[in-house]
Amino acid sequence: MNIPKIIVTPPGPKAREILTSDERFLSPSLCRLYPLVVQSGKECVIRDVDGNEFIDFNSGLSCLNVGNCHPTIINSVKEQLDKFTHYSQKSFYYEITVKLAQRLCDVTPGSFKKRVFFCNSGTEAIEAAIKIVRWHFRRTSLLAYINASHGETLGSMSLSSCKLTQKRYLSPMTSSVVHVPYPYCYRCPFDLSCPECNYKCIDFIDKYILQRVVAPEDVAAIFFESIQAEGCITPAPDYFCRLRKLADEFEIALVDDESETGIGRTGKWFGIEHWQVVPDMMCIAGAISSGLPLGATLCKAEIMDWEPEVHSSILGGNPLSCAAALAVLEVTAKNSLLENSTRQGNYILRRLGEMKEKYELIGDVRGKGLMVGVELVKDRKSKTPATNEVRDVVLNAFKHGLALRMSGSTIILTPPLTITHDVVDIGLNILESALKEFRSSL
Ligand SMILES: Cc1ncc(COP(=O)(O)O)c(C=O)c1O
Repeated sequence: MNIPKIIVTPPGPKAREILTSDERFLSPSLCRLYPLVVQSGKECVIRDVDGNEFIDFNSGLSCLNVGNCHPTIINSVKEQLDKFTHYSQKSFYYEITVKLAQRLCDVTPGSFKKRVFFCNSGTEAIEAAIKIVRWHFRRTSLLAYINASHGETLGSMSLSSCKLTQKRYLSPMTSSVVHVPYPYCYRCPFDLSCPECNYKCIDFIDKYILQRVVAPEDVAAIFFESIQAEGCITPAPDYFCRLRKLADEFEIALVDDESETGIGRTGKWFGIEHWQVVPDMMCIAGAISSGLPLGATLCKAEIMDWEPEVHSSILGGNPLSCAAALAVLEVTAKNSLLENSTRQGNYILRRLGEMKEKYELIGDVRGKGLMVGVELVKDRKSKTPATNEVRDVVLNAFKHGLALRMSGSTIILTPPLTITHDVVDIGLNILESALKEFRSSL
């Protein structure tokens, strides 16, 4: 197999030219880890403007679950292009949004009646969710998790809590949001181990937050990610089941943000299905339309009871994005991509587990399906985050043709769900070579 192919150390001459103009004209808030200047993409290979070819373990930030430029997606969008590109669901009707809403209602957990609101992105799907629960329950308070990533507009940013740089100098956020600890067992906020802890983190919400900080009668919803995107934090087995019980006790809605974990990423259609828990509402974006702008807030019909004019979007539910989304759902099902995600993901977890035996630097390996995190630590006892080492490993891998990303002290692996065993192996070999440079004896 002839990938990856590095013909000039990146950034090559063409890439350098574009980087210079980018630096001059684009927003300095964008934060790129390495100089990958994309020319084209095919399946799980990304070609840069100088002709280098990289194995894609990013999927364009978990959006290209069916791989880059899948022919069925391209054809579906082309067909729609020839019909009409826009006519606004805000004031008119078109069939493709209805078809997509029906498909999403079928494929999401819960046999109850559902409704869908379409927008353009993950953050907008969260904004809609905030308004839906506040409107329906006539309650303003919201619970969200420490280290959550729900987007960067004001409402969603109020729920997010992963980077101080996203909030510093930007207050006030939306009021009445209380953040609680996520079940991050590797670094348990209560310094306990699961399951001996008996899920102290649920108890904490029940006994402290809902009894001393905010009255349950004021809480409309708990927003959560089934696996936290930042750090790929994967909850303990019984967590969501206990959370569901607690939410039911106080009639609080559970809003599941599946922007990162949805559409087969974790080996199920939606991440929450690993825990057999049915949320009241789901926010879906990114992979749903193979990277075209689309977000969906899907919810129990009885909860989405806001009246006309409370919320809408001119561009939301764009027909091109909906055409892509219908094709994504078809390709995912027809090509058994959930199964491949599980198969390749299990193999990745096994190989990374073996690497953990060899490299002291690896503190934790976690994830489900093709959403995998490798947390690096300076030493296993103190668990001091090895953030600089993560950066070095990811940069080194990039130079050798593997495109990865990092989140704090964690390397994140999210290849397309179409990836084959051989390509996974080549990618993991590059990652292992990069880790070897930090080898110390165990
Ligand atoms: C879990 C999750 N929700 C929402 C968002 C926001 O999505 P978008 O960038 O499409 O607004 C992100 C993006 O990082 C995310 O990871």
